[in-house]
Amino acid sequence: MSVAAPSAEKILILDFGSQYTQLIARRLRELEVYCEILPYKATKKQIEDAHPAGIILSGGPDSVHRAGSPRPDPFVFEAGVPVLGICYGMQLLVAMHGGKVSPSKKREYGHADLEVLADTPLFADLPNHLKVWMSHGDSAERLDNGFRVIARTPSAPFAAISDEGHRWYGIQFHPEVVHTPLGSKVLENFARRICRFDKRWNMAGLLETQVAAIRAQVGEKGKVVCALSGGVDSSVAAALISRAIGSRLYCVFVDTGLLRHGDRERAEKVLGQELRLNLKVVDASKLFLGRLKNVSDPEKKRKIIGKTFIEVFDAEAKKLKGVEFLAQGTLYPDVIESVSVHGPSVTIKSHHNVGGLPKKMKLKLVEPLRMLFKDEVRRLGKEMGISAELLGAHPFPGPGLAIRVLGAVTPELLKTLKAADLIMREELRAAGWYDKVWQAFVVILPSVRSVGVMGDGRTYENTVVVRSVDSRDGMTADWSRLPYDLLQKISSRIVSEVKGVNRVAYDISSKPPATIEWE
Ligand code: XMP
Repeated sequence: MSVAAPSAEKILILDFGSQYTQLIARRLRELEVYCEILPYKATKKQIEDAHPAGIILSGGPDSVHRAGSPRPDPFVFEAGVPVLGICYGMQLLVAMHGGKVSPSKKREYGHADLEVLADTPLFADLPNHLKVWMSHGDSAERLDNGFRVIARTPSAPFAAISDEGHRWYGIQFHPEVVHTPLGSKVLENFARRICRFDKRWNMAGLLETQVAAIRAQVGEKGKVVCALSGGVDSSVAAALISRAIGSRLYCVFVDTGLLRHGDRERAEKVLGQELRLNLKVVDASKLFLGRLKNVSDPEKKRKIIGKTFIEVFDAEAKKLKGVEFLAQGTLYPDVIESVSVHGPSVTIKSHHNVGGLPKKMKLKLVEPLRMLFKDEVRRLGKEMGISAELLGAHPFPGPGLAIRVLGAVTPELLKTLKAADLIMREELRAAGWYDKVWQAFVVILPSVRSVGVMGDGRTYENTVVVRSVDSRDGMTADWSRLPYDLLQKISSRIVSEVKGVNRVAYDISSKPPATIEWE
């Protein structure tokens, strides 16, 4: 089996707006099937250019009855490749080929028992009864033009259909969600048996093709500059580019003074010494802290940090002669979000990243991770020998500790916060909990002072809050159920070891309605 390159053949997923579309892509990639998502409006040319070995029509919230509801370009059915319609996608298959779809009396939502009725490659190597997850309002009622029923559930007589001549398949259930335990096998059957897609998408192959692609983009002499945050995405992107062009990649690490204890040293050790990146560390902490003095509004703080970051980085980049390219660690979810059916979502917090850089600096972008999900980035990092400590690090926001000191940032509060945060991380690691949670950190509440007693004396000091959350992607989150003895250890160490803190609280809010960070 050969290796897929991003430009080569793939399974194409057309997005009709289902909340699960990304999951279809993730499941396929877990099966080492390379796939990409395009909005349902993709033109004939876009579809042709994608070289699909097969096309999946996703689910979606609309009803095929509504005038103006989304339709794919008819080319989808003329391309001569297999098509799998999921939920709304199946209703399209029916409605666009002479069949009848009707609104169900009752919306079906939840588990169902699927009974396979026919011998079909879609259900090959699967039992005759499958647990599946349904979520739909409309149902197929009559089929036409070569379609037949291949599976049913007690409430959906047309739960799966096929036109084997055309290699068109429709399923009313969602194979991509965990509630359909054998759903991956259905997707695998579609990709491997029906589309006969035998290329394997894996990290070793990806590494090779990406290195070649970077070399082709940057050329023999091109120079690339990169802002390293010390986090997973920028580190993996830089390591990849450095493999392709060596010391023509210039990495700048800006110490904003808003980093956690050990962040800068870890970046120097892992990125500078172990990965041998061409790394320059710029200490701009005085500048950042000076500009943040007496500023307490969270959005103002973010804006100041973003602007200052660009200034510092820009000044460094200008010192390098002849740089034409800027590296960014953009990931696939950002790419999908910006082209999705729904469009970019509302701004709750203006996230600071280097997104503002290219416009100002007139540099061309090198984005070697733009087709990857986060877990794929980690696997790629591992393939390149990046330490597990860096790859497993919790997400850390661009504005750093500035949004964890509520209100105005002072050097004293930062010092206190760093000490408390370090203790929390040490204890989490010691108890084996660090890798189990999505993100854990400490917040300091400077304006809230409370009375305590220490030894024989009265104290009147700051409160810190420990926040630990479980999440898949940071979009929604729940507070981690950390063991009480671990919380107790964290609390007693912070109060006894960190000067100026006499009280520790644990945040038990989920997102929504709270957010993960406090500002
Ligand atoms: P919220 O607080 O919005 O956080 O629930 C969701 C995820 O995003 C991170 N976060 C940020 N990341 N710049 C960033 O680069 C920011 O301004 C920012 N604010 C929040 C947060 O740590 C969590 O992982």
